[in-house]
Amino acid sequence: MNFKTSTGDPATLPSPCLVLGLFEGGSLEGLTAQLDQVSGGHLTRLLQLGDMDGELEQTLMLHGVPGYACERVLLVGCGKRQDFKLTGYRKATAAAVAALARHRVSAALWALHHPLPQDADSYRCVRDSLLGISDLGYRFDRLKSEPKPPKRPLEEVTFWSADPHGQEAAERAVAHGQAVARGVALAKDLANLPGNICTPSYLAEQALELGRAMPVLQVRVLEEPELQALHMGAFLGVARGSRQPPRLIVLEYRGAGEQAKPVVLVGKGITFDAGGISLKPGEAMDEMKFDMSGAASVLGTLRACLELALPINLVGVIPAAENLPDGNAIKPGDILTSMSGLTIEVLNTDAEGRLILCDALTYSERFQPELVIDIATLTGACIVALGNQAIGMMGNDEDLKRTLTEVGRETGERVWELPLWEEYNESIKSDVADIKNTGGRAGGTITAGCFLARFAGDAPWVHLDIASTAWTDKAGDYLPKGGTGVGVRLMTGLLTRLGGG
Ligand code: BES
Ligand code: MN
Ligand code: ZN
Repeated sequence: MNFKTSTGDPATLPSPCLVLGLFEGGSLEGLTAQLDQVSGGHLTRLLQLGDMDGELEQTLMLHGVPGYACERVLLVGCGKRQDFKLTGYRKATAAAVAALARHRVSAALWALHHPLPQDADSYRCVRDSLLGISDLGYRFDRLKSEPKPPKRPLEEVTFWSADPHGQEAAERAVAHGQAVARGVALAKDLANLPGNICTPSYLAEQALELGRAMPVLQVRVLEEPELQALHMGAFLGVARGSRQPPRLIVLEYRGAGEQAKPVVLVGKGITFDAGGISLKPGEAMDEMKFDMSGAASVLGTLRACLELALPINLVGVIPAAENLPDGNAIKPGDILTSMSGLTIEVLNTDAEGRLILCDALTYSERFQPELVIDIATLTGACIVALGNQAIGMMGNDEDLKRTLTEVGRETGERVWELPLWEEYNESIKSDVADIKNTGGRAGGTITAGCFLARFAGDAPWVHLDIASTAWTDKAGDYLPKGGTGVGVRLMTGLLTRLGGG
């Protein structure tokens, strides 16, 4: 997909399709008023016929509008003028892209963000719609022997601005948006790959590939002997059930010189989670190929931040393994010694995410981080608690949680905090070891967070549970099912802020 910007009189700009917003019930203003005037009342007549009234997500394609250089005009309902916010703009964007696809429009001149929603400037609107359009155009068909791409897909979108000043903002938004969009696409691609292709070694290979493509990124891959030397007993315990060897992937980017402390992002990289000896039921088990979505979003975020050349130091730490049952697998009741020295009673081998993350968190301390974020498809309980609308957030630093909450609202990847009160620790006390890896059904997301908190060092730390947002199991109104790349927008947004942007 190609994104450009332009300015000038929309009536005289040639394009296969001009995209305009129409409000419900109100009088025509701005670009729609101009359209009505130039075309000699064309729009007024159409509205009188009642084909469209501006209700949110309604669309109407007009051909041969008198006085306009473009071949078509797509009118998109934006709802009531006084209610028009970024959330509505996102829905209108999705409806517009679906209509462009139905009409097989290959290039569009985008002016849907005029007038602006109440809570966003033109930079935000352009960046946001670019990300939305990229999301909607994403397909994962590389594993089909004969992919059937749409006959005439949308290939180019030009964002219109009223003046050169606005165009300058749009230019920045396009550059930023594309960096993030490429990160999201990378995360989706990795998440969508099945377990037999996307193994721990494959993830490591992809990380090395990213390092080759972007030489400012240093990538190291630690294999079993090194993991043993580090005493990563919990991580290695999980990996024992699989013939695929584990990998610890470490990516370092120094955009702020050697002195500044880095941000460390830790991503759960279970490339398939069958549950281990505590085997999962068969239904929908295939979805556990998405259990490396945290790892994917860390790689996607690094990709985006590097393209943005953010002036920060950033480290990605990805423990990658498969969780399968085997004669050599860990068993319920086994006790593992983590890298930190804490001993863990494994009561359920399906609670493997925390076992690989705890050693990765301990490992992260060597970077003396400014802050640490871990991101993981950690608990089914998170789906029960929050549904598919929010990322579960827990952590030990109020400032960081507040900032993430703000960035979540801004980027649409909303987080919702769950408490890590001291009392919850009761449920992960073990009779025979220091802690156990499950806290029972009650508060499952929180007790997993409590477990991880025991391994977070002194730096500010936040845990993001993306179990309910990492993929969709049914096609939505506009989006196909599969990986969502969740976390890339959120973390890149946070890191952009930290970099002063
Ligand atoms: N990867 C799963 C969590 C998960 C389940 C994510 C469904 C998304 C959808 C995780 O490893 C797991 O199995 N967690 C267990 C923990 C339990 C045994 C304490 C769970 O949530 O059931
Ligand atoms: Mn599991
Ligand atoms: Zn898992």
